[in-house]
Amino acid sequence: MLRKPFDLKCDLLREPVGMDCPSPVLQWNVESERRGACLAACEIELAHDPRAFFEAPNRTWKSGWIPIDAPECSDCLPELEEHSLYFWRVRCRDNEGNVSDFSDPTRFATGFLRSAPQARWITSPQPEFFQTRGTFVLNQKIDGHRHTHALYLRKEFALKGPLQRAVVYFCGLGYGQLEINGQKVGDHVLDPAQSEYDKAVYFSGFDVTHQLRQENALVMILGNGRFLESYGFEYPRGWVELRLEYRDGTVENVLSDTSWVCIPGEVTRNGIYCGETHDSRRKDPSLGLPGADVVRFPRAIEVEGILPRFQNMEPIRVTRLLAPRSVHSPAEGTVIFDFGQNFAGWVRLTADGPRGTKIRLRFSELLAEDGSLNMLVLENAEATDEWILRGEGEETFEPLFTYHGFRYVEVTGYPGVPRPDQIVGCVVHSDVEAQGSFFCSNELVNRIHECVQWGQRSNLMSIPTDCPQRDERHGWLGDAHLAGEESLFNFGMHAFYRKYLDDISRSQQPDGSLSDVVPSYYRFFPADPAWGSAYVTLAWETYQFTGDAQLLAKHFPGMQRYVDFLGTLADGGIITFGKYGDWCPPGSILPKRTPVALTSTWFYFHDALILSKIAQVLGQPEVRERYEQVALQVRDAFHRAFFQEDQYAVVPMSPRQSLDSSLPSQTSNALPLSLEMVPPDARSKVFNTLVDSIIRRSDYHVDTGIVGTRFILDVLSDGGRMDVAWKMVKNPDYPGWGYMVNQGATTLWERWEKLTGFSMNSHNHIMLGSVDGWLYKYVAGMRPLEAGWAKILFQVPSLEDIRFASASVKTPRGKASVSWKRRKGELEAVIRVPVSAKAQVRLPLPEGAKVWEGGREVFSRTSTAGIFETETASGLYRFRVAREEPSAKPMGEGVERG
Ligand code: BGC
Repeated sequence: MLRKPFDLKCDLLREPVGMDCPSPVLQWNVESERRGACLAACEIELAHDPRAFFEAPNRTWKSGWIPIDAPECSDCLPELEEHSLYFWRVRCRDNEGNVSDFSDPTRFATGFLRSAPQARWITSPQPEFFQTRGTFVLNQKIDGHRHTHALYLRKEFALKGPLQRAVVYFCGLGYGQLEINGQKVGDHVLDPAQSEYDKAVYFSGFDVTHQLRQENALVMILGNGRFLESYGFEYPRGWVELRLEYRDGTVENVLSDTSWVCIPGEVTRNGIYCGETHDSRRKDPSLGLPGADVVRFPRAIEVEGILPRFQNMEPIRVTRLLAPRSVHSPAEGTVIFDFGQNFAGWVRLTADGPRGTKIRLRFSELLAEDGSLNMLVLENAEATDEWILRGEGEETFEPLFTYHGFRYVEVTGYPGVPRPDQIVGCVVHSDVEAQGSFFCSNELVNRIHECVQWGQRSNLMSIPTDCPQRDERHGWLGDAHLAGEESLFNFGMHAFYRKYLDDISRSQQPDGSLSDVVPSYYRFFPADPAWGSAYVTLAWETYQFTGDAQLLAKHFPGMQRYVDFLGTLADGGIITFGKYGDWCPPGSILPKRTPVALTSTWFYFHDALILSKIAQVLGQPEVRERYEQVALQVRDAFHRAFFQEDQYAVVPMSPRQSLDSSLPSQTSNALPLSLEMVPPDARSKVFNTLVDSIIRRSDYHVDTGIVGTRFILDVLSDGGRMDVAWKMVKNPDYPGWGYMVNQGATTLWERWEKLTGFSMNSHNHIMLGSVDGWLYKYVAGMRPLEAGWAKILFQVPSLEDIRFASASVKTPRGKASVSWKRRKGELEAVIRVPVSAKAQVRLPLPEGAKVWEGGREVFSRTSTAGIFETETASGLYRFRVAREEPSAKPMGEGVERG
């Protein structure tokens, strides 16, 4: 009846090691076949040894039955000991008294709950530097980044007795890899998560009990990452605290300090943008093992640094391996492999060749017309890895501290031609769980969805980045929040955004302002209001998808300071300040028809309105009232300032550029419509202007930048013109997503145009990916109606043109899904409502149609067409809408091409 719980998480993570939350939230999944199943209570068991659950109940802590209404429990554990390994399991009882079996036990390990770490930050006294090509830093073009070669710091130690358990906490800035006895610790890559390193740095915890022997060598390898002089951070440094618990109960710590020595190593060049060089001849494997003679090497020095904290988000990992799809040779001695997919990561290359052979790998998203690699689109990112062979048989290269955004890799200098199995594409990103799926009857639209998922993955690098390939890859706030909703449908983003909201809060200035980029390696204060909105928007959307009100509470003061700061920019409710506005509409980088003041003011309204809703959730009526008042004033000022007859303002691109100003701005009209800012008497006029401009003036094409794009489809659908939105999305030609796909895109682009020169034209940008949220909400027709998916809206669109669609999302309450198809006036919709959730179902009802559910007639109406609406509890439901008694014959499916 009630299946045993599975997929257990502690403090949002699977089996964390070093967890620093004294009272973590425990979460899990549970399923039931029974309709109306709701969780009523849970019982948690906790033990230091999992065998206790089965063999020694007296050594098990039991919570007793705790009332719950969702599969999670907070404040339910006894006081936790620090640095301890715990196992826990859970069982549940539903509202009819059915009790599930206990889940399989899972573990978590606490870290520094009360005490402070002891380790010191150390580095090399004599780092060697190299220079890379320039980029923009702090608003200025600089000649080059000064990077160090990777630093290698080493320590040897012996165990003092039989070991019970060993855990290591490690942080290497910018990026670090730890090795014990020549073997990498853990499976994280590009660790730790990026942050403003003078405000917060993160360590990862690993259980290394089985990696230790009697004698041991520890080596940390430190790369540059973002810990660069150009961002104000000197050069790499490392921090290690290895905790050895012996069987006799004693504890010993091996710490980073000045007893470590600096040894040489093979990584002689590394940088996020430039790539990496390995000279495998420099590797001395004996230095990775205990017993090496190291007296000739200099001692590490101690340096200043802040106390690291536990990295409470999913690490970056290699999440899948891709085989090349094809290979060609544009010139003698050069081969280019095509992975058939644009992605972020690197290649793992195997070779067997003479010592000193120099192999070069270059990466790009595009080929030039002559079949060679197009490196122009990368701007200043050299994206070049180099590998010098050691020459002692088969050897393998894989970079440690760089990544590339690419589909093609060019190989030169390889001894022969690599066989396809000697070159592997490694897909790399923050290892958030893939939790959403979408599929519909239009193949082009399915491909757009895939592009968005690939683009989103490529831009999760411990912060949400704009792109993975050129010399940017920053946390641009606009890109982040415009893709926020889509990312929350597709991936388990809870811990990721928890950490990112901390990043945003740490970057906030005393006056409340934010930078366009967070972490603010570019100190672009104050942010364009359309970018700074990320603070409020991401907090609110994360709450909608997870139900985490604590997150709202934590950032409530910071969000208020931010909206108050917007108030200081406003004059009579209008904010004229802005830098990007409706960024990147067709044919332009800067907004074309939409005044920047309009987008800035609209976001002021938007943020004040959302903040008032947040205050409502947090039970703060006075604050709610205050921001509601702000929102109302801005709304009225907005209308006064920008409304003209039947539409909102249009501007020419620049005074010199002539523009048909009779053509309305899609964005200017979509934005106020989307938050019901338009006075009732003007609403239909504005909506008609918008629809008319799309149909008659743009022939069903988007004419929006990234801001308008995020909202226009929702506005059209809510206003009853789903047909227009659908035509725009599946439009195969320029400008539109379909155009990108038809031009061979496997991820969405930065620009609506296909550009291939040295300019802003990334081919893997996520900011136009907001369309995917619309596919889930309006095409498949599912979305959270109450926070945390406590209530779900399933709404099948009336549009005959879409023959079937399905979507599923792993919500905090379990898997929710919808799958519907229509044929010859009949509609079948199967929906799954997770345990402890309920749903509102809306199905289009043609004239004279009846509704059956599970073969039983639930509604009959004979005259007018409309919507059938019902509420359901949890469970699986099979609806059928037809004029006649449904036939047993299953309906056919087939994906429409084009
Ligand atoms: C980035 C964007 C970003 C924009 C703002 C670009 O260079 O790639 O995606 O939002 O700058 O100016």
